[in-house]
Amino acid sequence: MSKPTFYITTPIYYPSDNLHIGHTYCTVAADAMARFKRKTGYDVMFLTGTDEHGQKIEKKAEEAGVTPKEYVDKIVGNIKELWKLMNISNDDFIRTTEPRHEKVVQKIFKQLYDQGDIYKGEYEGWYCTPCESFWLDRQLVDGKCPDCGRPVQKAKEESYFFRLSKYAPKLIDLIQNNPDFIQPRSRANEMLQNFLLPGLEDLAVSRTSFKWGIPVTFDDKHVIYVWVDALSNYITALGYGSDNDEKFKKYWPADIHLVGKEIIRFHTIIWPAMLMALNLPLPKQVFGHGWVILEGGKMSKSKGNVIDPVTLANRYGVDAIRYFLLRDMPLGQDSQFSNEILINRINSDLANKLGNLLSRTVSMCDKYFGGIVPEHGTVVPEEDDTIKSFTKDFAEKLEGLVNEMRLSDALALIFDLADILNKYIDITMPWALAKDESKKERLQEVIYNLLEGLRMISVAIDSFLPETADKMKVQLALSEEETTFDSIKPFGGMVSGKALCKGEALFPRIDVQKELEELEKINPTVPKKNTLPIKPEVTIDEFEKMDLRTAKVLAAENVEKSDKLLKLTVEVGDSTRTIVSGIRSKYSAKDMVGKTIVIVANLKPAKIRGIMSEGMILAVGDEGLDALIATDGEVESGVSVH
Ligand code: MSP
Repeated sequence: MSKPTFYITTPIYYPSDNLHIGHTYCTVAADAMARFKRKTGYDVMFLTGTDEHGQKIEKKAEEAGVTPKEYVDKIVGNIKELWKLMNISNDDFIRTTEPRHEKVVQKIFKQLYDQGDIYKGEYEGWYCTPCESFWLDRQLVDGKCPDCGRPVQKAKEESYFFRLSKYAPKLIDLIQNNPDFIQPRSRANEMLQNFLLPGLEDLAVSRTSFKWGIPVTFDDKHVIYVWVDALSNYITALGYGSDNDEKFKKYWPADIHLVGKEIIRFHTIIWPAMLMALNLPLPKQVFGHGWVILEGGKMSKSKGNVIDPVTLANRYGVDAIRYFLLRDMPLGQDSQFSNEILINRINSDLANKLGNLLSRTVSMCDKYFGGIVPEHGTVVPEEDDTIKSFTKDFAEKLEGLVNEMRLSDALALIFDLADILNKYIDITMPWALAKDESKKERLQEVIYNLLEGLRMISVAIDSFLPETADKMKVQLALSEEETTFDSIKPFGGMVSGKALCKGEALFPRIDVQKELEELEKINPTVPKKNTLPIKPEVTIDEFEKMDLRTAKVLAAENVEKSDKLLKLTVEVGDSTRTIVSGIRSKYSAKDMVGKTIVIVANLKPAKIRGIMSEGMILAVGDEGLDALIATDGEVESGVSVH
């Protein structure tokens, strides 16, 4: 019987700069998922690649004095190297400059034109070059690009248009009636409220103002809009529209498009509409992940706060970085990166919990049984119950979590097993058992259970930390049969009688202080902590003009068409008021309800996005938002803060 198929994609990356730890995050997550699916019996197609056309690249190449193709070739080379270094197991890598892609995109465009889904018109609006997006007057925020906040240029050009508006009812129906289509679900509401329900305009899908793109075959002063070009990669890589479309027939529709939150819109509106027009099945799920952010906010070259994954991987090993990204960054949310969090994770989980457990267990087996895996003993007292009950549905639980894309929880589950095994050593005290000949059989059982638990960990961790799993397999002398996913469903699959192969520590412990100083030297792009200059002096009288009060959040909702703003209804003593606050990057509306916070109660009210905001929330953070000022006990609202 043929295996079920599983098709997962990452976005295709812009080769305009070298990639940073944020891009690595998305690719590592997709890789873990792809590996896990292979391990659990799927025929997997895992695609990544590069999105190489557009005005931005044309400009960069011009600045560098090379052709756009020369420019992208170099960076694409670096990207491929990075994925090799990070052990990314992609089955294909598509470049949008490859003929297999370009030809089919031209064919798609022509087909849509011939069938009337694309027509010629004139575009007047605003263009944001970094985002390659056109905006209408009413979509701008304070006259700037609503996606990135940068200035936009007036643009008027002849353009071909895709009849996106025609597909609006079907898109609304798709999103409302398929709860799995957009994950996490909150993103689906955003798409409906912010884009679909207010009404869709037809989309300008060609440009005449620059040349670096795929030409429209029947009107060659036009190049095809980069997003139409880029999104098509998911099917052109499978040979759709070519002489050999076997892969397309086999793998399409995709099971998951994993994408960052800012490009969900393209994947859940433009892409399905294009597929509807082509009469093709729609992807089963678009999963939107959050961003890796630094203390100063989102990583970006212009802020000078880019973290280079190559530097980190060379220093701590690829798996340490993979672990950190997968464990510390729950996929739906934004997560903070700092060298300190990274190093502490490596020390506490990888070196202490896992590395120590393996080396202690293998050493004890060496010492008490000459390094030979002991027979499965017969004694089963209460001490063993935790291991046995935890491992009973361990594999099923793990599979459930990964299938829901809860990769951080999946790793937490694996490390719970490591915790249980470490505790088991403390409780059973093998060194004491070894002193008593009559406890020999019990000692056998204990060491066996530890080795078996470690075998389960090595099989479970394989998709997340492949190098570590391989090292564990060598030390535990595991055969092919002992490393299949099915083999960890029942406890007790470790074969007795074979010789272990003691090796080096999996993860050497890091001296935190020394390492942080070193990193500071190598990577001066990391912003120094807390160095904002102190503002000019104020007198006590001036300060006392401020009326700071506790306030209780009664209700909260997102402000439409904004990624950052929340509208809060707060109680201050016996009155209520509205405050609009830019805290959504860290706190959702749900997080806020019920919190008692501190506000500036006598701040002059101001209109924000048409809503009168009466006060300001106090929060901590140099530029971004680190935490809110909240009370640590039961305090009523309206109480003065001083
Ligand atoms: N080329 C488009 C995607 C086209 S897909 C048909 C693009 N490229 S990108 O290089 O700018 O971004 C690629 C992915 O990297 C996006 O999903 C984006 O969210 C992700 N990330 C970029 N910076 C990131 C962080 N700091 N953190 C997490 N992901 C980030 O968009």
